[in-house]
Amino acid sequence: MMNLFLPNPFLGEDEDLLPEGKPQLEKLGLYQELREIYVQGTRPIPFEDNPLKRPYLAVCRSSRCYPSRNWEPVVEALQTAVKAAGLDVYVMTSGCLEVCKLGPVVHYSGDRTWYTRVTPDTATRIVQQHLVQGNPVSENQYPPVVQSAN
Ligand code: FES
Repeated sequence: MMNLFLPNPFLGEDEDLLPEGKPQLEKLGLYQELREIYVQGTRPIPFEDNPLKRPYLAVCRSSRCYPSRNWEPVVEALQTAVKAAGLDVYVMTSGCLEVCKLGPVVHYSGDRTWYTRVTPDTATRIVQQHLVQGNPVSENQYPPVVQSAN
């Protein structure tokens, strides 16, 4: 849900109340444009892809997460590795990722994997090993991966 605050067509340039019955409807041009795109469908949606559906890597930067205070090198390592691999994946920071005290914490939205105690080297491996090759970095996964005895 989103709230949009449009200019009041009944107010003039100096915030003065216009004479009754004489609104400046041209001030509602944005409303008309949005209506044509999203309600009437008479204009095309001005985006080629939905940014909400693009996979992302999020790094917790919450101050509640004491070990996460050193999150910046992790973000930089993820950005470098994603760029080097030529992936279409956002690297972003976030608030709490629900694994507090095990930071730095990284979440990959592609398959909803959480990583804890991520170093810059681990971040690079997450991209190269998990995102590129499809093999999650089990040592840093959360919850911990239990290895079978077989
Ligand atoms: S504060 Fe970082 S995971 Fe909760």
